[in-house]
Amino acid sequence: MHEDVTRVLFTEDEIAERVKELGAQISKDYAGKKLLLITVLRGAFIFMADLIRSIDIDVEVDFMAVSSYGTEAKSSGIVRIIKDLDTSVEGRDVLIVEDVLDSGLTLKYLSKNMKSRKPQSLEVVTLLLKEGKQETDYVCKYVGFVCEDEFVVGYGLDYAEKFRNLPYIGVLASEVYTRQ
Ligand code: IMP
Ligand code: MG
Repeated sequence: MHEDVTRVLFTEDEIAERVKELGAQISKDYAGKKLLLITVLRGAFIFMADLIRSIDIDVEVDFMAVSSYGTEAKSSGIVRIIKDLDTSVEGRDVLIVEDVLDSGLTLKYLSKNMKSRKPQSLEVVTLLLKEGKQETDYVCKYVGFVCEDEFVVGYGLDYAEKFRNLPYIGVLASEVYTRQ
C-alpha cells in the first residue's frame, strides 16, 4: 500500500467485479440502442476504460474535461468546461461516466448543459457516491460503490494530480493535505 494511503476501501478485484456488473446492466438496459459514453476527464478515465470492455453492445465514446477542484480536497462549486465534446449529442442515448458524486454540483451543471443539447436520453454512471454529501437532488442511475465522506484516491482519482495510478481505491492520509 502507498505510504500516503491509510486504508484500502475497494481492492482491484472488488472494483473489477463491480465494473463487470455495471457493464452487464448497462448492456441490458441499452440493448438495441446506440450508446454514447461521455467521460469526464480526468478522474473517470480508468473507470471508462474498464467499463467499455464490460459492455457488449455497440458504444461510442467521447471526452469532456471539467474542473471543479483546484488542488484542494473540497468542492468549490464552480464548474468550468476545459475541453468540450467533439460529437453531437442531439438525438443520442447518452451516458455520462463520472468518477465521484460528492456534492453533486459538477453533475448538476453537466446534466443541465447536456440536456440543452437535446439528447434522446441522458443518464449517469458514477463509480463512487459519497453518502449523505449531495447538496442537490440530482439522482444518478448507476452507482458503483457508496462510500463515506473521506477523501479517496487511486483507480484514476487524484489528489493534486497524484495517486491516479494506484490500482485500488484508498483513503488519503489527512497529513497529505496539511503537508503542502
Ligand atoms: P462534486 O461537484 O462535489 O460532486 O465533485 C465531484 C468531483 O470532485 C469528482 O468528479 C471528482 O473529480 C472530485 N472529487 C470529489 N471527491 C473526491 C475524492 O474523494 N477524491 C478525488 N476526487 C474527488
Ligand atoms: Mg471528476
